[in-house]
Amino acid sequence: AQDKRESLYVLSAWAGKFFVERLWKSEMGQVIGLNYFKERGYREDIIKKFELGYSPEEWTALVDKAQEAGFHSDYLAASGLAIERDDKSLYDRFRGRVMFPIHNLTGRIIGFGGRTLKTDKKVAKYVNSPESEIYHKSDVLYGLNFAKKAIMEEDNCYLVEGYADVLSVHQAGVENVVSSSGTSLTTGQIKLISRFTKNVTILYDGDEAGIKASLRGTDMLLEEGLNVKVLLFPDGNDPDSYVQKYGATAFKDYVKSHQQDFIFYKTNILLRDANNDPIKRAEVIRDVVESIALIPDEIKVSVFIRECSSLLDIEERILLAELNKIRLNKAKKA
Ligand code: CTP
Ligand code: MN
Ligand code: MN
Ligand code: MN
Ligand code: MN
Repeated sequence: AQDKRESLYVLSAWAGKFFVERLWKSEMGQVIGLNYFKERGYREDIIKKFELGYSPEEWTALVDKAQEAGFHSDYLAASGLAIERDDKSLYDRFRGRVMFPIHNLTGRIIGFGGRTLKTDKKVAKYVNSPESEIYHKSDVLYGLNFAKKAIMEEDNCYLVEGYADVLSVHQAGVENVVSSSGTSLTTGQIKLISRFTKNVTILYDGDEAGIKASLRGTDMLLEEGLNVKVLLFPDGNDPDSYVQKYGATAFKDYVKSHQQDFIFYKTNILLRDANNDPIKRAEVIRDVVESIALIPDEIKVSVFIRECSSLLDIEERILLAELNKIRLNKAKKA
């Protein structure tokens, strides 16, 4: 099994090099791929650092080269780089896409994300490597290998939605940034972050999906004892589009002045949606107190209860009663 994993690492590294070479050395790679990255505002040093690449718009470009290089079909299929047809023949999973290799903590490539260059809405924007013996999505944060040092130095981790966000924010000089790659956070990812810092700032897309995602998965962060801040970008921007449009300084200023503690953020979002409807407001109160109840630090709990009592315009002792009820119920279940 160890041998198989090692073979998959070697193949992934080889494929990473293949995509990089296609980007810089092939006609289509340069005209289509490299040009795409440059138009998005990525500098050459960043394109190289993150080992971005290009997959040719052909059915078996990678499969052919890999077999020539001596890689066995079983591994090509197991890595997800190739897909097996019913007749056992193989074709490339990634075709005509710009490639984002996904690295593990030590910087070895374990999978890929490929972005389409087409604007056709019917084509999947991203195609990703499937799970394999070396790629467990739920235990990976994109960019962590490039970010871990800065995360420790800054004692903070910025969490964004996508590959492009990591690249642009990193390029702007904010290197303590990782992405959950569009899925909601898992406990594995949270444990990973908490090895490096207890402070997480969530920078999600300023659209409905981003708002929903920012409320999901976050309770797990609180339970782990992490300090969670949140901010959304205005006018449907994501961190990538914001920093590319307005520049590094404006980005840093925006983050500094708009980050909110998660509990207050959640309270405000829910209150906004409740629209003064008394029944919905009661639900908001319960929902917020449920989140507060997850926080292991009693001092923080009492600060949040006090602040939320004024935000929600409800007496502190009522919030405390609710908190105790929730805790009692939990204790009973446990
Ligand atoms: N994603 C995915 N498959 C999709 C759409 C999204 O895997 N069909 C993941 C990708 O990791 C993507 C992240 O979810 O980076 C966030 O999605 P989205 O905000 O839609 O994409 P962006 O990262 O903003 O991509 P871009 O700026 O290139 O449009
Ligand atoms: Mn494993
Ligand atoms: Mn989005
Ligand atoms: Mn984007
Ligand atoms: Mn986005």
